[in-house]
Amino acid sequence: MRILALNSSPRDNETSKTELVLQTFLTGARRAGAVAETLYLRNYKIKHCLGCYGCWLQTPGKCVQQDDMTDVLFNRYLEADLVVLASPIYHATMNARMKIFVERTMPMMDPLKEPPEAGGVPHRFEKMPKVVALSVAGYWEQTMFDALSLTWRMCLGNDLIAEIYRHSSEFLSVPEFQVTVQPVLDALVDAGEEVVRQGKINPATMAAITQDLAPADIMARLAREFWSQAPEV
Ligand SMILES: Cc1cc2nc3c(=O)[nH]c(=O)nc-3n(C[C@H](O)[C@H](O)[C@H](O)COP(=O)(O)O)c2cc1C
Repeated sequence: MRILALNSSPRDNETSKTELVLQTFLTGARRAGAVAETLYLRNYKIKHCLGCYGCWLQTPGKCVQQDDMTDVLFNRYLEADLVVLASPIYHATMNARMKIFVERTMPMMDPLKEPPEAGGVPHRFEKMPKVVALSVAGYWEQTMFDALSLTWRMCLGNDLIAEIYRHSSEFLSVPEFQVTVQPVLDALVDAGEEVVRQGKINPATMAAITQDLAPADIMARLAREFWSQAPEV
């Protein structure tokens, strides 16, 4: 299985919690035999969709613009067996960089075809990758991913085979939390293996990934402490 992971965090790889969760997941996927590569959207020039429908009408299947999306990312997406779309939660949904990328996948849709029975969009191309959605949120409630999950399910239909959402993200690398965090990381490795071997994540693994690190009132207090000590940039 060839996996292409796209990480839309603007942060460097040592700081990004999307990266931590993503790479831990990919460790499990590789353990199960997959070949995985990560591309960082911050390194690519992706223009906004023009809304011209040129990719449906003038040049079906191809955007009328030229940039890294048309030159690199579009084909890399189609070549993969599985794509991991990894975005931090910004304002209760995917961040803008990921949204710009997603809007530029418009040429992959064919409006003349019937939509799949299972929902999602009608594909233009015969082979489309399956997708795993992955995200992290600073807040300590799983409901923070509700809007993102609805968006991915509506856009991807049956192509979406798993969703990995980890709240309380900034605490994943706090040394005092490592005992509590380790089972989360172990479960992320398991999730990578399960997706490759069986195409889905077991409910017990999901429960371990999403487990609370501490009760909400304690998380709220710790979050205030975290921000009062955050280093200036
Ligand atoms: C502009 C901005 C908006 C954010 N909005 C939310 C939000 O709505 N809910 C939330 O739980 N966290 C929010 N966060 C926190 C991030 O999700 C969190 O810091 C996460 O770890 C960022 O991912 P990264 O470390 O991979 O960049 C926001 C952060 C930024 C910078």
